[in-house]
Amino acid sequence: MSSVPPSSSGPDRRSFLQAAGVGIGALLAGAGLAGQAEAAGGAPRLRDEPFRLGVASGEPTSDGCVLWTRLAPEPLADDGHGGMPRAGYDVRWQVAEDERFRRVVRSGTVTALPELGHSVHPQVHGLRPGRQHFYRFRAQGHTSPVGRFRTAPHARSGGAFTFATASCQAWYHGHFSAYRDLVAKDPDVVFFLGDYIYEYGISAANMERNAPLPGARHERETNTLADYRVRYSLFKSDPDLQAAHAAAPWILTPDDHEVQNDYADEKSYYGLSEEDFLLRRAVAYRAYYENCPLPPLALAHGPDAQLHRRLRYGGLATLHVLDARQYRDSKPANTDEQYAPGRTMLGAAQERWLYRGLRTSDTRWNLLLQQVGMVKVTENRVDQWDGYPAARQRLLDVLGERGVAPSVVFTGDCHRSIAGDLLADFADPKSAVVSSEFLVTSIASDGDGAPTDNYTKDWMQHPWMKFYDGRRGYVLGHADAGAITAEYRAVPYIRADNQAPGISLDRFEVEHGRPGMQKVS
Ligand SMILES: [Fe+2]
Repeated sequence: MSSVPPSSSGPDRRSFLQAAGVGIGALLAGAGLAGQAEAAGGAPRLRDEPFRLGVASGEPTSDGCVLWTRLAPEPLADDGHGGMPRAGYDVRWQVAEDERFRRVVRSGTVTALPELGHSVHPQVHGLRPGRQHFYRFRAQGHTSPVGRFRTAPHARSGGAFTFATASCQAWYHGHFSAYRDLVAKDPDVVFFLGDYIYEYGISAANMERNAPLPGARHERETNTLADYRVRYSLFKSDPDLQAAHAAAPWILTPDDHEVQNDYADEKSYYGLSEEDFLLRRAVAYRAYYENCPLPPLALAHGPDAQLHRRLRYGGLATLHVLDARQYRDSKPANTDEQYAPGRTMLGAAQERWLYRGLRTSDTRWNLLLQQVGMVKVTENRVDQWDGYPAARQRLLDVLGERGVAPSVVFTGDCHRSIAGDLLADFADPKSAVVSSEFLVTSIASDGDGAPTDNYTKDWMQHPWMKFYDGRRGYVLGHADAGAITAEYRAVPYIRADNQAPGISLDRFEVEHGRPGMQKVS
């Protein structure tokens, strides 16, 4: 399907970017071949350890997944090339059914190119469903750490799976301690719902993590491809983040801070011209792909990347991964605009794709993995679905249709653990519950946090809201044919060090065939 909705300025946008030298042709084809030719002619040897950014897997299917690593002997090198020569390097990958790699079941070689920050994303197929696998990379005589992933169950099998949802990891606000607890819980899959990096400058003014300041390189907001690449390297230097990637496959979708705060489609919230902002979006999307275990379709073509997609966990769940940034209408200028019936959060094409997918999915559950709060809070929250009420109503109408499998919505962005039911009509608090939403707090953004804060009242004023906590953490979930459970887990602090133990805050259950979440004692 097309990733560009009819209302966008596709052709103009593309031709201007190609003229500016960041069209996909300039990005990859010509430059990529040059890189390979240079490697064949004898690239410099890599003496230093190139796997300092760790390994990752993503997009689990019943027969494989995407593997990821990025060669970077000096991840924080100022030019964004990670200390790598401008040449292609062969990287060998292996997947085994045992940790000692005695039963290697798939292997291959891919080329890490400078044009993609020496990242590789080999796609593995032909594995057995529902099984634990181990993987590693080799390059230039170096061997990477070992990662593991479990393939999704067979497409028709019922079964069960465990998952975790996480989002918002502002490195400078604290340690990623919540990932230590997540790794100990060993989920089958991790859903990361946006703000993998933050674009803001990092200085003494906003540094809350007990660690040395990262230096002048990071004092200004990210703007160039090198800026974004080095920013990913900085955030990925957190050992608990690397451990979480190595422990389970991730399914990721970005929110705004992977590019710039509160952007909407081609519009910057900070007054950049459309052309300047699209150039920035192009390099930001590219750095995002380079640094995450994303599928090939997510590789940006200029400023456009197809990030919404569907995955399947056996016969149990269809995962609808949404993109609520790239096609959304801008913030409303007034309430007439806010309540206009044609207003869209996902864009016309993605809306059609989502509604069709919800209506035709043949699994027991629909899980929506998305960026910003869907539940009604206040009409001032115009960056969330509250700013797009007509679009929210269209989606709620579909979720409430007879024949659409029960759904649960998982959301990032709000830096708080919040849970609430989604009503057929929020104007009528007695109307039917059509779905339930679990908003995950941040891994680090907003520092230590506290159980209650200035926003508690805003969110909890409505009868459909069920839970609120302002500390850092994640959601640990379990899905089977009978129910989906979501446990809010937290760490008491993150600024001082990464040693805080994980604690359970509360647990909720959505039973199949019984709308609404119930607290599990
Ligand atoms: Fe965030």
